[in-house]
Amino acid sequence: MALRKIRTEGDDCLRLQCKPVKEINNNIRMLIDDMFDTMYEANGVGLAAPQIGIVKQIVVIDDYEGNVFALINPKLEQIGDEMQTSTEGCLSLPGYSGNVQRPKKVRVTALNEDGDEIEIIAEDMLAVIFCHEIDHLSGVLYKDKAENYGKIESQEG
Ligand code: NI
Repeated sequence: MALRKIRTEGDDCLRLQCKPVKEINNNIRMLIDDMFDTMYEANGVGLAAPQIGIVKQIVVIDDYEGNVFALINPKLEQIGDEMQTSTEGCLSLPGYSGNVQRPKKVRVTALNEDGDEIEIIAEDMLAVIFCHEIDHLSGVLYKDKAENYGKIESQEG
């Protein structure tokens, strides 16, 4: 198990266009393992490689409802024209949240850690996670699209 440092806002890595992975080798698979470890340690539902300072097109996702993915060079397209709005947060923007409008249904194509092409159709919350994480690979943060972006109010007192 290897934890990587999660980069927070102000770190240039978060604003770069990430490069496609050319060869899926053991280094990439070790990186993916570290990304899962880092995501779980932080109780996140997703993590993109630039969030740990790696400017490559890789994301890991676990919605804790049985949907676990490592996506390499993912491409996302909206299905239909329905939108949804939900409250998002990000491990790179700790303590903040905001409401973001996203597609309700998406199709994602990518390579998995074995180099196989995969296609996923996702709706609702899982679609939000895909959109949020894949945005990271273009240097886009949810706050760029959010309404009511601000500090999370303490629930106590
Ligand atoms: Ni994020």
